[in-house]
Amino acid sequence: MEILRTVAELRQWSREVRNDGGNTIGLVPTMGALHAGHASLIRAACASVGYVAVSIFVNPTQFGPNEDYARYPRTFETDCALAKAEGADVVFAPTVEELYPDGAATFVEVEGLSRRLDGASRPGHFRGVATVVAKLLIASEADRAFFGQKDAAQVAVLRRMVADLRLATEIVVCPIVREPDGLALSSRNIYLSAAERVQALALSWTIRQVEALVAGGERRAGALVAAARHTFEAEADVRVDYIELVNWATLEPVEFAAPGNLFAVAAWVGATRLIDNTILS
Ligand code: PAJ
Repeated sequence: MEILRTVAELRQWSREVRNDGGNTIGLVPTMGALHAGHASLIRAACASVGYVAVSIFVNPTQFGPNEDYARYPRTFETDCALAKAEGADVVFAPTVEELYPDGAATFVEVEGLSRRLDGASRPGHFRGVATVVAKLLIASEADRAFFGQKDAAQVAVLRRMVADLRLATEIVVCPIVREPDGLALSSRNIYLSAAERVQALALSWTIRQVEALVAGGERRAGALVAAARHTFEAEADVRVDYIELVNWATLEPVEFAAPGNLFAVAAWVGATRLIDNTILS
């Protein structure tokens, strides 16, 4: 497995493998600290396209000034070993200067959606995500790019961006990978103390509870959100950021649950912000 450092190298690799028998190319964008959730995306990509690139880049523009950019886990060697074991053909690991050349002044803003859910509590976050993913899609010329439902609002923003910019890449969404006790895997779970790790289960409990209520016939958004809020209130050390039932395409709140709607929660467990969600069936 090769490690590519520049956009020119990634583009050249992509064009070479495509010309080698008309192969399709998949991209799995990540910020590293890879876990089984990322691995599932790499596996899905390998099963679906001819060649797979995994990008590893802790993107500074999607972090707010008081967020964890500096201390975000960086585990490049083990990340490369995992990517290789899962079948990736290349890892693309550029420097910040490579993706944001001196004087960079171009950003991608998905208006409206970027201010919803995580975008409301993390101003500028989705602008950074859309900008870096646009750069990665343009550089890799990928036929398909693989993202986790774990970051469901991110998926909505990126689907809108790809449609609006008429990019040729298809967005593929993969299911949330969870710990045996339900906690959604996240690179940020390593920040949790033992006590916080237990408290963090409030998120997945809430999601399961909402799924059960919907299965039992509850459709009113107000009732679902109230039940979720009640579950969180039982955990004194967990602070809710948002609990929302929205249309997954627009991220606008809906009054009554319908199949395909997104029920999403974000909460602070100590100093760590975690998210979880379910797409209603
Ligand atoms: P990162 O948090 O590293 O996540 C990379 C991809 O892995 C995302 O598509 C995310 O949804 C997916 N993922 C994370 N945890 C998962 C889980 N438990 N199950 C399934 N998939 C999971 O998301 C980002 O990086 C960045 O915003 C990025 C898109 C790379 C842009 O910088």
